Amino acid sequence: VSDMLVDSFGRLHTYLRISLTERCNLRCQYCMPAEGVDLTPTSQVLTKPEILRLANLFVSSGVDKIRLTGGEPTVRKDIEDICFELSSLKGLKTLSMTTNGIVLARKLPKLKECGLSSVNISLDTLLPVKFELMTRRKGLEKVLDSINAAVDLGYNPVKVNCVVMRGFNDDEICDFVELTREKPINIRFIEFMPFDGNVWNVKKLVPYSEMLDTVAKRFTSLKRLQDHPTDTAKNFTIDGHKGQVSFITSMTEHFCGGCNRLRLLADGNLKVCLFGPSEVSLRDPLRQGAEDRELREIIAAAVKRKKASHAGMFDIAKTANRPMIHIGG
Ligand code: GTP
Ligand code: 5AD
Ligand code: SF4
Repeated sequence: VSDMLVDSFGRLHTYLRISLTERCNLRCQYCMPAEGVDLTPTSQVLTKPEILRLANLFVSSGVDKIRLTGGEPTVRKDIEDICFELSSLKGLKTLSMTTNGIVLARKLPKLKECGLSSVNISLDTLLPVKFELMTRRKGLEKVLDSINAAVDLGYNPVKVNCVVMRGFNDDEICDFVELTREKPINIRFIEFMPFDGNVWNVKKLVPYSEMLDTVAKRFTSLKRLQDHPTDTAKNFTIDGHKGQVSFITSMTEHFCGGCNRLRLLADGNLKVCLFGPSEVSLRDPLRQGAEDRELREIIAAAVKRKKASHAGMFDIAKTANRPMIHIGG
């Protein structure tokens, strides 16, 4: 791994999350305000060749995993081409996508052919009325179809991301765990995180300890697996279940010590921490004709500025950040 990807705490950043677009076909409450957000003009969004140029620079420096995010990555018209070209980069081991699953069932066979190696699908409720309340759109059946399509295409595990919010879906935790019984689904319960425009409130956060308690009471064989140090999730098995259960504890037990993630946003900004407000544009120098060497210097300097950990949930909630829709998780 090149020095460019090593921060001042010795963390190796080999996982790049690329947001392909700020647009989305849903309007989730935890991700954006009801009135929507200002979109970066299309001319300022990275084009496919620009994404490839930057991705190539990261991969040739040691990044071996890329995750495509958004907005919703599948709304981008050139998504198949992007997957095809990224998956061909020498040194890349994993090409993943985090998606809301609305159009995935239809697109997944082609995406798989283009080299998409895993998918994480967001789903926060199993009830149609609540789905519409959360996403301000219809579409639960489509998301369920996409989860099944991913299983049928042989993705294993199919990760399902569920942001748990008190009074909204905390009563559905055990129903979600049931999804893991017969299929290789990894349900991941995520602590609700504050971002601009999502009206975060500590009362809505269901802490890991409480979620774990709820699952362990009903599924008594729940067993913790050994973590990988860079994993965002704490993973568990249940006897007789084909899938797994995980918790992403960003707020009550952060995992910053093992962080290996950098973010390239749709507007070409590099964001070194999900919660750090500091960003640096890679698009501007790239469009001004910078050589790889200059881009590498800019990236290296940003990585070296990365903090040891985020500032804690109350401070994060007070600090300006972008809305989640711009960051992609
Ligand atoms: P895998 O690569 O499959 O482990 O997925 P992932 O957890 O890295 O990515 P995903 O997009 O599925 O995100 C799941 C949840 O983890 C979302 O709520 C993300 O916001 C959160 N998450 C992802 N990366 C980070 C991170 O670097 N820091 C924090 N605090 N949360 C993160
Ligand atoms: N808190 C926690 N997770 C969130 N996600 C989006 N917004 C939030 C939030 N405020 C999750 C989505 C998606 C992933 C990229 O991030 O559900 O699965
Ligand atoms: Fe990494 Fe920042 Fe997330 Fe911590 S909060 S895990 S440092 S991206």
